[in-house]
Amino acid sequence: MKRRYSLLACAAFALLFIAASASAEPAYVGPKKCKKCHSKQYKSWEASRMAHAFELLKPGERAEQKEAAGLDPDKDYSADSECLGCHVVGYKKPGGYGSGGDKDETLVGVGCEMCHGPGGDFLRDDRHSAKNREFKSADLVQFGFISKPSEEQCVKCHNEKSPFFKEFNFEERKDQGTHEHFPLKYEH
Ligand code: HEC
Ligand code: HEC
Ligand code: HEC
Ligand code: HEC
Repeated sequence: MKRRYSLLACAAFALLFIAASASAEPAYVGPKKCKKCHSKQYKSWEASRMAHAFELLKPGERAEQKEAAGLDPDKDYSADSECLGCHVVGYKKPGGYGSGGDKDETLVGVGCEMCHGPGGDFLRDDRHSAKNREFKSADLVQFGFISKPSEEQCVKCHNEKSPFFKEFNFEERKDQGTHEHFPLKYEH
């Protein structure tokens, strides 16, 4: 009897642990939340091709390229789970595109958080905010913040799982543009 109780306790503990680690994943908040404090980067990003990557999944978009890659140019891929992961923000992840709720239209394209990490945990008054402008990026790593996206971040999408994979040279691509860069005021 006693043994059964301790087994039960173990199972309950394991469940709690699973629940806690699942909810520990930071949520995506969408680029509009970053715009408030980073309007210059936002404007420049908004004009970039990556910001509009969701449009590519619609019928008729880049028809020739799709045909050449063996895809159907008249097909609507904009609800296709095989494609969305690299063309929206946080597909099926907490707070991300397709996670429920009605904010999907604000989560289309390669948003800020796909390179800088989901904002749900680092965007807090006492972390990354106008009240804590001199935050240290290293302190925010544990909350999912990526201050300087590296190749590792890019190749989550720029890899051979993409039907349109082209050789990815990080330094070259970085220079071609993610968004324009503006000087910062503080050391982070
Ligand atoms: C409430 C204001 C606020 C919001 C909202 C905000 N930030 Fe920031 N962010 C700041 C401040 C302040 C700095 C420091 C600016 C400086 O040093 O000039 C900063 C700096 C940064 C830096 C540069 C860090 C470095 O050292 O290179 C990145 C990257 C960044 N933010 C990304 C984001 C992203 C992505 C979002 C949305 C998920 C976001 N921020 C939302 C206030 C904000
Ligand atoms: C693993 C991530 C990933 C997946 C999955 C993915 N894409 Fe993409 N897609 C990319 C990347 C990265 C590029 C840019 C390629 C480059 O410039 O190197 C891209 C580019 C494109 C382009 C532009 C091609 C061009 O040459 O102009 C279209 C259209 C597109 N994707 C449609 C799709 C469709 C449709 C699917 C699903 C059948 C899909 N993608 C699945 C990452 C992905
Ligand atoms: C969430 C997926 C995703 C991530 C992460 C990502 N990309 Fe892309 N990238 C794309 C897609 C999709 C396209 C295709 C856009 C198009 O053809 O219109 C693209 C296109 C590009 C292009 C060519 C279009 C242009 O604007 O000239 C460059 C350059 C680029 N990416 C650089 C980067 C770099 C550098 C990183 C990392 C810092 C990165 N990407 C991270 C999905 C991604
Ligand atoms: C495709 C990847 C990518 C996306 C999307 C992206 N960034 Fe960046 N961001 C970068 C890279 C790369 C740097 C430069 C890091 C370095 O200095 O090495 C950077 C730098 C920054 C900085 C530091 C100051 C500056 O201008 O360089 C801020 C602030 C920032 N990004 C905010 C944003 C915001 C806000 C968005 C969305 C509106 C966004 N980023 C979208 C890749 C991205």
